[in-house]
Amino acid sequence: MSDPTEILPADVGGFAKAARLLAQGALVAIPTETVYGLAGDARSDHAVAAIFAAKGRPQFNPLIVHVADLELAEQIAEVSPAARDLAQAFWPGPLTLVLPLRPDAGISELVSAGHDTVAIRLPAHPVARAILRAFGGPLAAPSANPSGKISPTTARHVLDGLSGKIAAVIDGGACAVGLESTIISLDPPRLLRPGGVPAEALAGALGATLPQGGNAQSPNAPGQLSSHYAPGAGVRLGAAARQPGEIFISFGPGPAGDLSLSPSGDLIEGAANLFSTLRAADALAQAQGLATIAFAPIPDHGLGAAINDRLRRAAAPRS
Ligand code: TXA
Ligand code: MG
Repeated sequence: MSDPTEILPADVGGFAKAARLLAQGALVAIPTETVYGLAGDARSDHAVAAIFAAKGRPQFNPLIVHVADLELAEQIAEVSPAARDLAQAFWPGPLTLVLPLRPDAGISELVSAGHDTVAIRLPAHPVARAILRAFGGPLAAPSANPSGKISPTTARHVLDGLSGKIAAVIDGGACAVGLESTIISLDPPRLLRPGGVPAEALAGALGATLPQGGNAQSPNAPGQLSSHYAPGAGVRLGAAARQPGEIFISFGPGPAGDLSLSPSGDLIEGAANLFSTLRAADALAQAQGLATIAFAPIPDHGLGAAINDRLRRAAAPRS
């Protein structure tokens, strides 16, 4: 049997223990403002391989490197003036920049899965930042869920998916943003994944539109496999009301749901509640023997674009 996963408190003792485990090459799930990340030393082939193994993640899907400051980002990647402007505007925070990987970066080749770019993020969560500082190096961290399943926004969610497969989880409470970071590449700017920073805010900062999708230098985020965030039940989108045999999730005023993403129709609250609501709905569907979770329509602007992206993937045919 594997060792049990230790639950560490979000205090100096917990941070020191987490940093010690990470320095030994072990994996620790940490809270970020977006979702919980499964952290390992980004410089260690052993630790990075263990991340892929614990998640059951395909090796072609590269990982995001988390850093404590812009200086470390600049040691790992070539940060152009345009990239630095964005970093200064949105870091720390839920923005990931895909940048040219420096040949002398010292990052495990497994992190970038053979690409000549690297995805970098400077998280805002005080616990993530304290651990990055205590560890003193770059941490590779995908979302701390089994590959293809619903991302975790509490320590409990992490344990539900990865208990016994990782050394520890730091319990930092629920994640405030609730869905993953926005990923962009630059030269020219492209939106690779909608997320916690609305695309409108990035377009405003860039003074340019932000087209979706990859380009020749930077392929579309390879992890954007169509089926993802999959609950056990099926998912129906844009539902006007509950149909027989469904769990109904409302948004804003309108027909009452079994659950609501946000009773007032607030997109920030909806994003924060998304993954925990999807988990709760899945448990309800299972308890009641229902096959489908139906979602009311969500406006497609601001964080609504990221919510709808995750819901489309949750609804996609499973492979
Ligand atoms: O908010 C977040 O971004 C969370 C927290 C833990 O930081 N992390 C996260 O990681 O969502 P993950 O592994 O679940 O998603 C990372 C995405 C994948 O779709 C991957 O394909 C993409 O980032 N990615 C990583 N490196 C890339 C690169 N060099 N070029 C394009 N996409 C990349
Ligand atoms: Mg993920």
